[in-house]
Parts: sequence; C-alpha cells; structure tokens
Amino acid sequence: MRKITVLVGSLREGSNSGKLAKALEKLSAEHFEFHYPDLNLPLYNEDLWKNPPASVLKLKADLAATDAVLFVTPEYNRSIPPVIKNVIDWGSRPWGQSSWKNKPVGIVGSSPGAVGSAAAQSHLRSILVTQDVFLLGAPEVYFVFKPDSIDDQGTVADEGSKKFLKSYTDRFAQWIEIVSK
Ligand SMILES: Cc1cc2nc3c(=O)[nH]c(=O)nc-3n(C[C@H](O)[C@H](O)[C@H](O)COP(=O)(O)O)c2cc1C
Repeated sequence: MRKITVLVGSLREGSNSGKLAKALEKLSAEHFEFHYPDLNLPLYNEDLWKNPPASVLKLKADLAATDAVLFVTPEYNRSIPPVIKNVIDWGSRPWGQSSWKNKPVGIVGSSPGAVGSAAAQSHLRSILVTQDVFLLGAPEVYFVFKPDSIDDQGTVADEGSKKFLKSYTDRFAQWIEIVSK
C-alpha cells in the first residue's frame, strides 16, 4: 500500500477537484492510501522562514514521508490556481531542502470548460520538471466536469469515465513502483 499525498488546488467546499480526488481515491483503494494536507497556507514570503508557520512545517513533513504526490488542479485563467503555485513554492524551499526532488508525481485536473484544465496542466508540467520530480507522462486526465459527473462521495456517474479514471490510477501505481526501485 503506497501513501499518496493529494494536493487539491481548490479550498472551496464542494469543489469539483475535491470530488475528482475522492473518485480517484475510491477507484484506487487496492493500491493507495490518500492523504489530503491542508493547503490553506500563508502566501509564500521568504521572511516567514525566520519563524516558519506550523502549517508549512507540517506540509513539508507530510511530503517527506509520502511515497508519491498527486496534483488535482482546476484551471484559473488558463493556468494553475494560486493554491497550487503556493504549495509548490513552499515545498521548493529552503534552498537545498526541496520536498519535490525525486518524488513520483501525477497530475490530473478538471474544469467545466471544454479544455478540461489542459492549459493549467500544461503549465503545471513545465513547473514540475524543474523540481526534479518523476512525472508520469500518460495517460492525461482532462476531466470536463458537468454538474452531476461525480457526487460528494466520489461516485462517478458515467461508466466510461470511471473505467478511464481507474486506468489512470493503475498506471500511476505501476509508475510509482518503476521509479521507486
Ligand atoms: C478565477 C477563475 C478563473 C477561471 N478560469 C478558467 C479557465 O481559464 N478555464 C476553465 O476551463 N475554467 C476556468 N474557471 C472555472 C473553474 O475551472 C471552475 O470554477 C472549477 O470548478 C474550479 O475548481 P473547483 O470546482 O475545484 O473549485 C475559472 C474559475 C475562476 C474562479
């Protein structure tokens, strides 16, 4: 059983990204234990390292102990939301103590728009490669979220989508084993 730290890029109640994460959790129960750290972190400020916020230290401890990281991102103005960039920035510091180096990482995302977060994910990929992660390339999950696509319990309405999301988690599980050898 692999421990996965799931970084959901939305802080709001009833978020579609949260529902997508829940769906993936349900579909991958045989492989993974999902953990959801609190991403309501202060905005990155170098001065805060003098007396680091407990939430940041907790996040970095979680990341140090995890087997892999899964980003679940919505799309904001054709890019990633600030919640995602902020957690990447905190994780990348202090200099020389990055939380990202050598971590197996997956990216999925959703948006109600036709692009299903593809533009956001493209930006996220280009950021993460600079962090020296082992980034899973495919399949790519651009989930176009309709009002009833996934309910609060993570149940996916459409069988085809369910099968596809399951195939993603199976490949991510395989990827983690390959790169963790
Ligand atoms: C500031 C802002 C910008 C957005 N820009 C985009 C966008 O560029 N493309 C898109 O498909 N959806 C866009 N959306 C819609 C979000 O993807 C949508 O609200 C989504 O459900 C947010 O994720 P959440 O449900 O997990 O909170 C935007 C939403 C907000 C609040």
